[in-house]
This record gives sequence, C-alpha cells and structure tokens, in this order.
Amino acid sequence: MRKRFIAGNWKMYKTTKEALAFAQGISSLELPSDVVVAIAAPFTQLAALQEALAGSGVRLAAQNMHFEDEGAYTGEISAPMLAEIGVDYCIIGHSERRQHFGETDETVNKKLKKAIASGIEPICCVGESLEIRDGGEAEDYVASQIQKAFSGIPGGEAVGVTVAYEPIWAIGTGRTATPEQAGDMCSHIRHTLGTLYGTGVSEKIIIQYGGSVKPDNASALMNTRDIDGALVGGASLVLEDFWTIILA
Ligand code: 13P
Repeated sequence: MRKRFIAGNWKMYKTTKEALAFAQGISSLELPSDVVVAIAAPFTQLAALQEALAGSGVRLAAQNMHFEDEGAYTGEISAPMLAEIGVDYCIIGHSERRQHFGETDETVNKKLKKAIASGIEPICCVGESLEIRDGGEAEDYVASQIQKAFSGIPGGEAVGVTVAYEPIWAIGTGRTATPEQAGDMCSHIRHTLGTLYGTGVSEKIIIQYGGSVKPDNASALMNTRDIDGALVGGASLVLEDFWTIILA
C-alpha cells in the first residue's frame, strides 16, 4: 500500500517571518496518520523551519539543489548542505527550473543520483506543455522524461523517488487537469516505470499530481488509482487551504 504524500511548494514566496507563522499554525494541528506532509521552502527559511517544525510530523523539502557535493558554483546549494540541516526531500526538475534556469533531463538525472546518495528523497517533476499536449505527444514526451531521469538508477533506489506529474499548462493557471487526464497520465508514468523496473518497483513509487490543486478539486484528483498525492503551489501558501487538501 503506497503512502499518501502531500507536498507544498512555496516557490519564491514568504519571508522567514511568514514561514515561521505558518509553521506555528500547522504544528498546532494533528496530521492524519496516513498522510506524509512536506513543505518545500526557499533555502533561506530551511534552517529556521527545521527547528520550528520539529515534533510536528511535517517534513522539510528544498526546491532545488546542485548535482555536485561542492565546487566553484556561485549561488548554488549542494545536497550535503541540505542534508546537514535536516532536509528530508528535494524537488528536482520543476518545469519552472527547466524553463527559466536551463535544467535539462541530463541535470535532472545527475541531481536525482546525488540526492539519493546524500540521503535526500527526490521529488522528480515531469510534465508537458500545452503545445505538446495539443500535438498529441504528451504521453511519449513524459515517458521520455521519466526514462532519462531514471537512467542508471537501480530499482532498489528508484523506489525512494517520488514522481510529480505537473502539466505545465495547469501550473498557476487555475486550469486544473481533469481527474481523468491527470489519472491517465499518472497511470502511464507508472506503466513506464514498470517497463524500466518491473511492477514490483513501479507499484511502490509514489506519484503526485501538481497543477492548480485546490481545496475543491483535491479529493476528485486523489481518488484515482495512480495518483498518490499532490504537489501544491499557490494553495499551499494559505494554511487553511493546504490543510483542507491534506484532509482530502
Ligand atoms: P500551482 O498549484 O500554483 O498551480 O503550482 C503547482 C506547482 O508548480 C507545484 O510545484
């Protein structure tokens, strides 16, 4: 039985002061025992949040990392640096990083390997643009992203990777994929993982949907066979909304 996993991606929002107020709020609530909850916060907030969320059950995630342990990479943060302050997860290959910061399938693959080696659980993002979907190429495109991301990663390590299917056209647009569209693609992702590793592995991998997940659509999206959770952007910034999604 796969766990439910709801992660909030705060992107470049919230000051540390605002983050700590959120942490205080969520710490006063009792998390459902069958849901893993994580917050992916900006780097500057991670150490403070680690302390503020201690004992709450809420796990901590970063939004990006470099694929080398150290080096002359001005402005970058490495996996050992994140591990040192108790970060549990790291989002890797978000479409915003692919679009604006030159992330490629190759760097995603390197980062996945480095995260795993550093004891950080990756949340690997994949998803197609509207152009690709309208051209009828979405399934092939996403399968190719999956194959490249997992290249050279053995099955025993692949089970610890969470995949987040985030169609670019649904991110921040209010245009959510229908439960059928999202569910079908997540099944296709699990099938692709099955061809790489066999169903013994693919049935264990947690797959999230992301893209305009809101309190009013979360439960329909989560009630599909292959969607095990959500990667939530905008709605994770407001505690009440995020909490409603966790309960859904
Ligand atoms: P929104 O929920 O704001 O559409 O963002 C989704 C996302 O990109 C999460 O990583």
